[in-house]
Amino acid sequence: MLSVQPNIPATLAAVPRHVAIIMDGNGRWAAARHLPRAMGHRRGAEAVRKVVQGCIRQGVSVLTLYAFSSENWKRPAEEVDDLMALLRFYLKREIKELHNNKVSVRFIGDMAGLPLDLQQMVKDSEALTASNKMLTLVIALNYGSQAEIVLACRKLAGKVARGELDTAEINEESFGAHLQIADLPYPDLVIRTSGERRLSNFLLWQSAYAELLFLDVLWPDFDEETLAAALDDYKTRERRFGGR
Ligand code: IPE
Ligand code: IPE
Ligand code: MG
Repeated sequence: MLSVQPNIPATLAAVPRHVAIIMDGNGRWAAARHLPRAMGHRRGAEAVRKVVQGCIRQGVSVLTLYAFSSENWKRPAEEVDDLMALLRFYLKREIKELHNNKVSVRFIGDMAGLPLDLQQMVKDSEALTASNKMLTLVIALNYGSQAEIVLACRKLAGKVARGELDTAEINEESFGAHLQIADLPYPDLVIRTSGERRLSNFLLWQSAYAELLFLDVLWPDFDEETLAAALDDYKTRERRFGGR
């Protein structure tokens, strides 16, 4: 896996193969309606269903969703508990439907830091849907890009220490191969909702040449039309990968 994708010509892009979304703004959506934040998260989970359907319809191959960052543990325990409960509920309710739609579900992040029952659900969901080919849905859960990069360094250093790898063999390609979703293409389009213009520790290495799209829409309001508009915007981008 190359860190950039020079096989894509420097012309107008068509449908992105990999769309990655920082689903932000659930709290503000709820606050604007004088509702508890948990309601915003619940409506956010409904938006996930729409974006999955949209990606299937539009022919996107990989959709990565940032569901919970390794920094989100800093939130009040009650909100963290709400989010974990919602994840359980979502996985339990949606996994059959995702499987029926031939969606392969994968997770990135530090699964060992999750409650044990969720770890089991993660494994079961991956096993059930592993051979599906319609869409790969990657859920970033307890995910932090810097931690992922550090872990890759540690794995490479271990190989060097054991004499399995020469330091000269550490390059963009071998480094990328030690990241969590090394078999999938890197994101072509990274979308962040809620008007914030930052990456918040999401796929930093993998997004080196991604097109970035910052939308003011709050995540619970994101629907198939929003996705279609985002993909239209992507079509207007000219990707150069450093060429001309
Ligand atoms: C995104 O919405 C969901 C997660 C980070 C889990 P937020 O909860 O961050 O919503 P805002 O940013 O406070 O509006
Ligand atoms: C990023 O959103 C994480 C997820 C969407 C899961 P945050 O709301 O946690 O990001 P910051 O704190 O505004 O940077
Ligand atoms: Mg936020």
